[in-house]
Amino acid sequence: MQWLVQHMIFILLLYKWRISTASSSPLKIAKGNCTSQCGGVSIPYPFGIGPNNHCYFDSWYEIECNLSVPVAKPFLRRLQLEVLNISVYGGNTTVQVPSPVTYLSCKGKQSPLAPNLTGSPFMYSVENSFVAVSCDSFASLRTDTHTLTGCSSTCLDQDILSASEMCKYGFDCCRTALSQFITTTFSITQERDETRRNKTDCEDYAFLVDQQWFDEHKSDFRAIKDRDVVPVKLDWILSLEKISP
Ligand SMILES: *[C@@H]1O[C@H](CO)[C@@H](O)[C@H](O)[C@H]1NC(C)=O
Ligand SMILES: *[C@@H]1O[C@H](CO)[C@@H](O)[C@H](O)[C@H]1NC(C)=O
Ligand SMILES: *[C@@H]1O[C@H](CO)[C@@H](O)[C@H](O)[C@H]1NC(C)=O
Ligand SMILES: *[C@@H]1O[C@H](CO)[C@@H](O)[C@H](O)[C@H]1NC(C)=O
Ligand SMILES: *[C@@H]1O[C@H](CO)[C@@H](O)[C@H](O)[C@H]1NC(C)=O
Ligand SMILES: *[C@@H]1O[C@H](CO)[C@@H](O)[C@H](O)[C@H]1NC(C)=O
Repeated sequence: MQWLVQHMIFILLLYKWRISTASSSPLKIAKGNCTSQCGGVSIPYPFGIGPNNHCYFDSWYEIECNLSVPVAKPFLRRLQLEVLNISVYGGNTTVQVPSPVTYLSCKGKQSPLAPNLTGSPFMYSVENSFVAVSCDSFASLRTDTHTLTGCSSTCLDQDILSASEMCKYGFDCCRTALSQFITTTFSITQERDETRRNKTDCEDYAFLVDQQWFDEHKSDFRAIKDRDVVPVKLDWILSLEKISP
């Protein structure tokens, strides 16, 4: 009963908070007296920088604003993960963070592992796409235990499609949706017809990416080759443990 009452209070609080955020500017929704900006990124509650721990929901949401770089950068302190953007607007609550571009069969180019979210309240959102820039191959995204998604693409010898159509139809690029949240780290592997391609050409790469960001960049998807990271979206769950006795 006590738990139920507290649960309801929590829901009411969230509801009130949603109403107040809907009517105010997204730049002003840090708690009173809490720092609300870091390097051009607004930091709304449940995230917070400080000066004290009332500014964030719990330590997973604590933001460290690193001022020792030319442009100040916010980091999720416990995950030591840079924050690119936080959106708590219009009911879509996501945080955008960098995720590595994985180079497949490329000697000397090591890709770091994707951030490991195990044990944290964060998870890779289903609003991300898996994209592989490759051909005559099947690329897949897997965790320790499961293959979660994958796609295959065909080599295209002539320019008969616009760049933005190539990933859609699976020529020199393929793209697929995530059907479930990922709460751990993941790796990317590839199977391909080795006879057709050069094993050390570093032309093949794949990544998990914020689908909205990719839609804005798909007509120039080959330029992603020059990047080490792309943005991904994380969702989170506010744990009731903190509110329950
Ligand atoms: C904010 O800071 C001012 C001045 O330090 C103080 O008077 C006020 O009580 C603080 N408000 C909150 C909500 O902590
Ligand atoms: C801030 O960033 C610099 C450069 O990346 C790094 O050396 C330093 O450890 C960071 N400071 C904190 C407090 O994370
Ligand atoms: C953050 O996301 C919001 C909503 O998607 C967008 O309007 C804003 O331009 C983004 N800010 C940055 C710094 O990318
Ligand atoms: C929320 O996300 C959904 C799915 O990506 C999108 O269709 C919708 O436009 C978003 N709403 C807002 C207010 O950004
Ligand atoms: C991810 O983090 C969890 C918890 O810290 C750890 O048990 C697991 O081994 C990590 N996974 C990888 C692949 O590093
Ligand atoms: C394979 O790629 C390397 C590096 O780009 C290049 O030097 C070499 O000539 C290529 N070999 C073949 C058989 O295409």
